[in-house]
Amino acid sequence: MTYRMVDLIQKKRDGEILDKAEINWMIESYVTGAVPDYQMSAFAMATYFKGMTSEEIADLTMAMVKTGEQIDLSDIPGIKVDKHSTGGVGDKVSIILVPLVASFGVPVAKMSGRGLGHTGGTLDKLESIPGYRIEYSIEEFKAQVRDIGLSIIGQSDDLVKADKLLYALRDVTGTVDQIPLIASSIMSKKIASGADAILLDVTVGNGAFMKNIDDARILARTMVDLGNAVGRKTVAVITNMNQPLGYAVGNHNEIAEAVEVLTGGSTKEFRTYIAVLAQIMLQLAGVEKTTEEIIANFDNGQAYEKLMEMIAAQGGDASNISEPLQTKYIVEITADQHGFIEKLGAMDVGLVAMKLGAGRATKADSIDFQAGINLHAKIGDAVSPTDVIATLYSNQPIGDALIAEFKSAVNIGSEQKEYKEILEIIR
Ligand code: URA
Repeated sequence: MTYRMVDLIQKKRDGEILDKAEINWMIESYVTGAVPDYQMSAFAMATYFKGMTSEEIADLTMAMVKTGEQIDLSDIPGIKVDKHSTGGVGDKVSIILVPLVASFGVPVAKMSGRGLGHTGGTLDKLESIPGYRIEYSIEEFKAQVRDIGLSIIGQSDDLVKADKLLYALRDVTGTVDQIPLIASSIMSKKIASGADAILLDVTVGNGAFMKNIDDARILARTMVDLGNAVGRKTVAVITNMNQPLGYAVGNHNEIAEAVEVLTGGSTKEFRTYIAVLAQIMLQLAGVEKTTEEIIANFDNGQAYEKLMEMIAAQGGDASNISEPLQTKYIVEITADQHGFIEKLGAMDVGLVAMKLGAGRATKADSIDFQAGINLHAKIGDAVSPTDVIATLYSNQPIGDALIAEFKSAVNIGSEQKEYKEILEIIR
């Protein structure tokens, strides 16, 4: 059956529902070039305003999955659990979680992405480890997971070709922040990556795609239902992204913080947050553990050992992994008043880190792995005027405007606010 794209655009524009055959034709034709970008843009914009039913989202997702390689992990013994975050600032969670879960014998085969704008990317952080290889063939990737139980690599170019085209188009047509399009984009890649079960970390707040809890809940529910509908057990955690996760924002320093957590350091709150995520991943693989049992694998070195095994297997040199940041310019930011940290805006902190050299304003930019920010206080912490609340690191001069930008991200007041990392779990 063949269709005319203009008819499908008009259908969506008028709020009608597309059937599976129409969606399959549209996505296949877009990938072959028979449907041009200008028509696909019009369709994305019509979808932006008219939305999609759950069935349309599922059909779109599966049509996208079929436009690339689908990885078969079934020859790796055990239930394979994947994890995906919708992005944030200071998000080094995968680098801690993957070895932690693997330390309980549950294999994790994870493909990660790069950072853009205020958000960081797991791949960039791992590449701050000299020699760490992120480009693997699927066979190499599977062999490593079979041998040592874990691997984190870059996403294969052969996966979900439709998403590459569509995401680039959405990026320049104002159609990125739309729940059905985000859900199908993320879930098509997760489904094609072959894991049996998926933990989704849906971030919400000032530093995230989703700015309010209602939208985050809808996105999480949409993705959980999608995953479950195609036989992948899926759970979503809604994570608060109103301040950065943890204390380091950058690349090398985030790896150092991951090592600190993996060796039993950092705060109880951060360790517990990671342990809850690990508990869900383990449950998805049929392994029941208490958070205390999970945290024990930080203290006994087993989770850290798994990270070291992964780095060595992927050619990385971990000898300087915990060294402090070394840059030409270092600026300490003091609190300048008494009170409690009430706000530490993740978006602004992420943008300052990017301008220090730790991130990319455009996809073509390169990254300075040593640049970044170390936070010394977080929301709810009491501070005095001379307390250093953050240190900025860069190899370019750090001007007054950037310092002012960082300071505008912070509010110090008289109220001691509570801050929870996990807001909800959607099963
Ligand atoms: N991440 C993705 O992979 N796709 C989106 O559409 C948004 C975030």
